[in-house]
Amino acid sequence: MCGIVGYIGKQDTVPILVDGLKRLEYRGYDSAGIAVLNGEISVIRRLGKLKELESALLESTPAGFVGIGHTRWATHGKPSEENAHPHTDCTGGFAVVHNGIIENYSSLREELQAKGHTFDSETDTETIAHLVEENYKGDLLDAVKATIKQLKGSFAMAIISKHEPDRIIAARKDSPLVLGIGDGENFIASDIPAILGSTREVIFLNNDELVEVTGDGVNIFTFNDVAVDRDSFTVHWDFEAAEKRGYEDFMLKEIHEQPVAVKETIRSRFQKGKVVLETSSNLTDDMVKAISKIFIVACGTSYHAGLVGKNVIENWARIPVEVDVASEFRYRNPIINESTLVVAISQSGETADTLASLRGAKADGAKVFAISNVVGSSITREADGTVYTHAGPEIGVAATKTLVSQMAAIYVLSLYLAQVRGTLAQNEINNIIAELNELPEKMNELLKDINGIKSCAMEFSDCKSFLFLGRGIGVPVAMEGALKLKEISYIHAEGYAAGEMKHGPIALLERSVPVVVVATEGHTYEKVISNIQEVKARDAQVVAVATEGDKEIKNHADYVFYVPRTSELLSAIPAVVPLQLLAYYIAKIRGCNVDQPRNLAKSVTVE
Ligand code: G6P
Repeated sequence: MCGIVGYIGKQDTVPILVDGLKRLEYRGYDSAGIAVLNGEISVIRRLGKLKELESALLESTPAGFVGIGHTRWATHGKPSEENAHPHTDCTGGFAVVHNGIIENYSSLREELQAKGHTFDSETDTETIAHLVEENYKGDLLDAVKATIKQLKGSFAMAIISKHEPDRIIAARKDSPLVLGIGDGENFIASDIPAILGSTREVIFLNNDELVEVTGDGVNIFTFNDVAVDRDSFTVHWDFEAAEKRGYEDFMLKEIHEQPVAVKETIRSRFQKGKVVLETSSNLTDDMVKAISKIFIVACGTSYHAGLVGKNVIENWARIPVEVDVASEFRYRNPIINESTLVVAISQSGETADTLASLRGAKADGAKVFAISNVVGSSITREADGTVYTHAGPEIGVAATKTLVSQMAAIYVLSLYLAQVRGTLAQNEINNIIAELNELPEKMNELLKDINGIKSCAMEFSDCKSFLFLGRGIGVPVAMEGALKLKEISYIHAEGYAAGEMKHGPIALLERSVPVVVVATEGHTYEKVISNIQEVKARDAQVVAVATEGDKEIKNHADYVFYVPRTSELLSAIPAVVPLQLLAYYIAKIRGCNVDQPRNLAKSVTVE
């Protein structure tokens, strides 16, 4: 995820900005840059790691007491020096750094171009610089206020101007921003770690607030122009804890970031009841109508997102779907032609087997579509189009927030296919969109009360083997629950279709083998209850994931994790969360390193 740092005071700003950016490196980035005020605005940006920027700064270091810096993690436009922040306007009078997504950037860009503005990058961010230039009438704060009114989307941003060298203006909407308070100097950052080297006095900016930062103080306002008086607080976290925002591990932090990951992924993809795929998706209506078969190929957790995709696409768009693990697909000579769509799902966009599958399918004439979290990754470069997930970088090796955002992207893609092919009525599409939009808040609710999961983890942390069961959309959820447990706690676990239990796994059942059952509401609920009875009859203990308000389930299961109600096909997102947490807490009790499990890698670029 992108990082922001800003400084105004009496010290040389470059070392402070670079130090702040280094402290944000853990978030992942592909390029970095700074802008320093010294009469003019000097901007230095580099593709790649911070050492590239540092080398450039060794050659020429701009001196100045005011500056902003940024580490970019590409969302709009590939990783490159031109797309790196800070971005400037046509006159070089303003520089901006920004985290988040400006949803209406392409229409704003067209309007600005029509007025004569020229753009140097492909980013959504550059529109902000040009809007500020356009709105500037002698007061930077007023210009930023006017600009904010024109923006749709999420942003944390900081802006400097050569016309007003004694202040930085920053604003926040749905993307974090903190202020660091010093003595005769002040700081801005997207995250606390960035400023911990300089100060521990911090003020959080709330949503829909902007701030004027000078060397002497900070003046906060709401977007409605009401002045805000907020005290600073002292941060006692050490640097490592601050990186994790107070969570014990990146994995736990990332599990808690899942509502935002889903929200960001669906954001701006529904406009007035229409599903809109970004221009990079390159799927024309004619192509969509001609699709006769879809293959989804992926590995690991992404494969489970693919299984969700099969259920959803077949139900909504009525196109036959096969899901393959990429290492099999690439060698199995599948039947492919020009009317085949292959969807390659990969959070990293670099997985060797998935990439090879994509190449093979393309060579056979298929259209290939990617779902990925990394802009400019190999798979996205070679695919005919991409639906990006916007989970931000995931540091824990075992995927969590990238999975739920992949599922969200699949819902978007499936709705899009259904819309173009006319397999869902508009009111059905509207209802699904409304439910999808409610999911992030429901996930937030779910994450507020996880004590039951912790005590269940205590009970079962010594077990040697687990079985996970589900039906329909619950099968991939069960498989993912088993995979998470295996990956991070090293306990053997199998995910199975509940109806298949009697053909094998039932032989394993005894008191010491807990069975986790995805028993959320759905058309096979009664069948799942019967499977639970079969488990209970073999003396095994049952942990059920059930829909809030389900009173019956308590009569059958030893432990119940309730998840908020949503429609059956969407329930994969909330249902997977308690299983991630169960795996997490069991692994912690067993003393495992959840962020870096043994033998596993985040990005598997070898076969
Ligand atoms: C590795 C990771 C998994 C991930 C899988 C596929 O095994 O540890 O978390 O699911 O690769 O990765 P991809 O980047 O293709 O989604």
